[in-house]
Amino acid sequence: MEEKVAVYPGSFDPITYGHIDIIKRALKIFDKVIVAVAHNYDKQSLFTPQERVEMIEEALRDCPNVVVESFEGLLMEYMKRTNAKVVLRGLRATSDFEYEYHMASMNRSLNKDVDTIFMVTGKDYFFISSRTIKEVASLGGSVEGLVPENVARRLKEKFPQLHRPHNI
Ligand code: PNS
Repeated sequence: MEEKVAVYPGSFDPITYGHIDIIKRALKIFDKVIVAVAHNYDKQSLFTPQERVEMIEEALRDCPNVVVESFEGLLMEYMKRTNAKVVLRGLRATSDFEYEYHMASMNRSLNKDVDTIFMVTGKDYFFISSRTIKEVASLGGSVEGLVPENVARRLKEKFPQLHRPHNI
């Protein structure tokens, strides 16, 4: 029987427990999940694609059916190269829907062989985004329990707290 493969694309700058929850749940449905880290030139990313891949590999070391790769250019071209037919995305709130709907529709117009499926983010993670994680970490807040330990460590390295915050 043909292997069921899902490609889970994203910026993952950095990966959070929200992403990991989606990946682990998807592994119950798919034989293999390819986490595809996008080089997004229009986005100012904190971590390099290589760092993002390393962090995901470290965090998912106990999941043998996960492959982590990075890709440049169009996702639909990457899908052709990997010969995968399913894109997996997580939905946190209705506010995600419009962006996701447009992206899935554009991708479908580019490649009719590929479908996007959505999984609803776990209730404990719906408020987590890579953007807010970076903001909290950059201001010295705790991201414990929201990102894996290796990610929290790397965030601390990126944002060493050189001075204590004070009122101005
Ligand atoms: O985690 P993100 O930033 O929401 O992920 C967005 C991502 C990487 C899935 C999207 O920007 C993407 O697919 N980028 C690759 C370029 C591409 O195919 N763009 C056309 C999509 S409509």
